[in-house]
Amino acid sequence: MAVPKEVKEEVERLRELIRKYDYYYYVLNNPLVSDAEYDELKRRLMELEQRYPELITPDSPTQKVGAPPRREFPQARHSVPMLSLDDARNEQEIRERLRRIRELAGMDVEFCVEPKFDGTSLELVYEKGVLVRAITRGDGYVGEDVTPNARTIRTVPLRLFEDVSIEIRGEVVMPKRAFQELNKRLIEEGQRPFANPRNAAAGSLMQLDPRITAQRPLDFIVWGFGKSEIEFKKQSEFLKKARELGFKAPDPFVTKDDEEIIRHYREWEAKRDSYDYELDGLVIKVNDIPLWDRLGYTARAPRWAFAAKFKPRERTTRLLNVVWQVGRTGIITPVAELEPVEIGGVIVSRATLHNVEILKKLGVMIGDWVVVSRAGDVIPQIIKPIPERRTGKERPVPIPDRCPVCGGEVVQEGPYLKCVNASCPARLVASIKHLASRDAFDVEGLGDKTARLLVEKGLVKDLADVFKLTKEDLLKLPGFAEVSAEQLYLAIQRSKKVPYHRFIYALGIPSVGQATAKLLAQHFPRLEDLMKATKLDLMKIKGIGPETANAIVKYFQDEHNRRTIQKMFQYGVKILYEDESRGPLAGKIFVFTGELDCCPRSKAKKMVEELGGSVANSVSRKVTYLVVGKNPGSKLQKAQRYGIPTLSEEEFLRMIEEARKRIVEGNG
Ligand code: IVH
Repeated sequence: MAVPKEVKEEVERLRELIRKYDYYYYVLNNPLVSDAEYDELKRRLMELEQRYPELITPDSPTQKVGAPPRREFPQARHSVPMLSLDDARNEQEIRERLRRIRELAGMDVEFCVEPKFDGTSLELVYEKGVLVRAITRGDGYVGEDVTPNARTIRTVPLRLFEDVSIEIRGEVVMPKRAFQELNKRLIEEGQRPFANPRNAAAGSLMQLDPRITAQRPLDFIVWGFGKSEIEFKKQSEFLKKARELGFKAPDPFVTKDDEEIIRHYREWEAKRDSYDYELDGLVIKVNDIPLWDRLGYTARAPRWAFAAKFKPRERTTRLLNVVWQVGRTGIITPVAELEPVEIGGVIVSRATLHNVEILKKLGVMIGDWVVVSRAGDVIPQIIKPIPERRTGKERPVPIPDRCPVCGGEVVQEGPYLKCVNASCPARLVASIKHLASRDAFDVEGLGDKTARLLVEKGLVKDLADVFKLTKEDLLKLPGFAEVSAEQLYLAIQRSKKVPYHRFIYALGIPSVGQATAKLLAQHFPRLEDLMKATKLDLMKIKGIGPETANAIVKYFQDEHNRRTIQKMFQYGVKILYEDESRGPLAGKIFVFTGELDCCPRSKAKKMVEELGGSVANSVSRKVTYLVVGKNPGSKLQKAQRYGIPTLSEEEFLRMIEEARKRIVEGNG
């Protein structure tokens, strides 16, 4: 049966629309249509392709995943070698290299400065706009053909917006947050986490089964080209064209001024943590492409480009000892004590070893030289030992068979060691810390040290006891005096009125984090309802699985836990339910402008919200107060125009203080 012309046209139209929507969604992060509308288009395309399979082409948006697993990757040759880059490791070396390039060129040179993405490089071969092959860098001449895997990456277009033949080169990267989530999952399964986003990206790309690659959130970011039908005059022009063809490509910084390059380098190094992708430096390229051939190549790298590396995120140091920390659920975590080492501007002296299974798989010994990494804001971790540097004096890490704190029985649950003693003092200390933490009761001044003292002195025997503490009790603690005891006492009184979801989170129910606590608060109008919920009731909630449901039921069945909750109420804890939580600042809307000395804006916002007020981002006539910090912005003029009262930072803090007092005195 011949395919009707209208169907062919509709299929083409659908594909074009889907490609466009994909581009806006994945490349530009700027969705043009709702998910539902998009799904509908895709569903329609699949329906037509099913009815007329002869219409299916490899570049159809429905064909991103589909190839079966391979036994191995075939080899493929690059038509133009993929070279590496020489490094400059500090400002002096950058200046030196810029000078040498100018000297070699014998003229004024314009540079194109791009971020250096820390991932794994890949070449995509397009013939007349259609992706035909994807090859890894390999040894620079021959790489591995990973086409089915590359096709699954959302930002690898199967078809370009123009029918050109071109080899596009770039970096396959994993966003930092996705990397952290992937690692969290691996750790929970007792598997070794990836050392950094680069290894995670490479490991995910090089899966023999493309369906696994498809599940990993990878991105492809363009930095160069091989053979190309289009002749480019400037690197910056190439990057612009790459974006027009449908790729993600950086917006480069173009300059002839060395000092601007240095300034740019400093700025990027300072802000690298806040960027979505791991960067290991900048790449500085001669912008004029015709100059490239004149400058030429060394055996492994071009003379017209180099990498300006940031401070390394991995260092080697000695593993001095392994200590075992007992958490609030009884899980015993191995923590490495290291010879202090500076990693990317931070002194690291401890690193997590995650759990006993990972510790065993790593095979570290006390006294070993180890590679330690600190990626962004992630807790430092030990990547591997360096067995070549062993002297014979290293000792195996002893695995505890008794709880290091209470001496109680230890069992292994999955990859974790666990102390089974529910009243282990270490568990209580960790639970108090959790109860007092920012997102729970937020008791200012109740940290690790005080929690430990409270348990040691026998002042707190269960979580409820925290709310019974008097100033006299606190004065018994070493290091506490009149003022500090009064402050902590007041902080505890203030914390007693707590939003429902934060109360749930504060209990420290295993596997109930903030997100789950919020879900529970939404679905069970009162705590009594939640305490009665069955596993089935809980599993009806989207986002709560059988394990979490079990943990919740088990927690509320436990007589000790029920009694503790009752006692909390006796000692004055009051849950603020969504529908009745009107604090002293209820109905008041605050806006902030300028820098605050007291605290980050997020903290100031929380202070307002805890007292029932709300915070807006911009000034409108509805706003009650504008809080003015240092170097205020245009919001100040706008507020003055509207006649909205302004508060200095001091006035704002005083208002908060007074509102808090009203809560403590019970007439909030
Ligand atoms: S240009 C011949 N630009 O870094 C020039 N490379 O250390 C080749 N990389 O193999 C490289 N971001 O995988 C270039 N903006 C960028 C880059 C970049 C990351 C990677 C690339 C290269 C490696 C060299």
